[in-house]
Amino acid sequence: MNVDGKPYRTIWLADDGRGVEIIDQTKLPFTFEVTRLEDCAAAATAIRDMWVRGAPLIGATAAYGMALAMREDPSDENVTASAQALMATRPTAVNLRWAVDAMQALLLPLAPNAREQAAYIRAVEICDEDVAICSSIGDYGLSLIHNVWEARGKPDRVNVLTHCNAGWLATVDWGTALAPIYKAHDAGIPVHVWVDETRPRNQGASLTAWELGKHGVAHTVIVDNVGGHLMQHGMVDMCITGTDRTTAAGDVCNKIGTYLKALAAHDNGVPFYVGLPGPTIDWTIDDGVRDIPIEQRDTVEVTHMTGRTAGGDVETVEIVPAGSPAANFAFDVTPARFVTGLITERGVCSASKDGLAGLYPALAG
Ligand code: MRU
Repeated sequence: MNVDGKPYRTIWLADDGRGVEIIDQTKLPFTFEVTRLEDCAAAATAIRDMWVRGAPLIGATAAYGMALAMREDPSDENVTASAQALMATRPTAVNLRWAVDAMQALLLPLAPNAREQAAYIRAVEICDEDVAICSSIGDYGLSLIHNVWEARGKPDRVNVLTHCNAGWLATVDWGTALAPIYKAHDAGIPVHVWVDETRPRNQGASLTAWELGKHGVAHTVIVDNVGGHLMQHGMVDMCITGTDRTTAAGDVCNKIGTYLKALAAHDNGVPFYVGLPGPTIDWTIDDGVRDIPIEQRDTVEVTHMTGRTAGGDVETVEIVPAGSPAANFAFDVTPARFVTGLITERGVCSASKDGLAGLYPALAG
């Protein structure tokens, strides 16, 4: 998507064909900064410390991390050690495992001197595939937004609520939840987005608002507790969120707070859709509440907030009494029964075993 008129992806191979460049998302929305990753350790740090984040982008960065590792040392031992190091960065997004497994399956049968080139080629392909997948999610989701807009008599505003950032910054390009919104906006539908701020790291306020603004999409940032009130008053036509892991039965695990929005949507008859790429589906599990590991992050993300002062400096301040304990659960699971539909690159289906199996017959068990 465009940043001040210039098209960007979130990750790309540097001009020398060796290093990997990323947009450092910890600096947004205040500074747009491109950072170069030189080795696998840097790729692991970038994922763990959330310079890059979002399930599909985590997978793409891990694929490049394996390529950087092969440039350093293409031995069997390093394939395995690098895969383990990358896998240990963040537990919830299943795309990470998907990408690392795909790279290991490609590399281990090859002779060591063939691994570097093969790894770079596959990492570039994984990124291109992600862009195509997200664009297709956008096309299917556009039809849903169009239908809602038409059913309401084509008002001058169709309101979509989203949580966290599942836009192009969370993927390689387009996004998952936001791809339909970009396509609707580009098609002339007057879409307006309610952007949940998404404490504790504020991916909504910092990233979703930034990227929607850069593309010219109307939006309003709200605190995380507002969605229920808006839905009670008919101010939300539909919700669309992303997911970091979707079970074979259609449970979705996404940024903490997503579940509460789904409950409010259910109570108010507001359609609740989830956009997801195929690699986000974990075919090995059905029950998300029981089986998905929920990342717990440093409590400093809860006890402190970062922002820009009136003087223009970016500063971090403490917001709780010294010594108050805090907890930082990063994701929650929305059971399939609260999800109106899953928007995938293969079409829209019910959040159920049958729905997903209908779209992915070769992968469903
Ligand atoms: O902790 P994050 O910022 O990586 O969490 C991201 C989300 O929860 C997104 O909604 C999810 O990855 C889906 S993104 C396409």
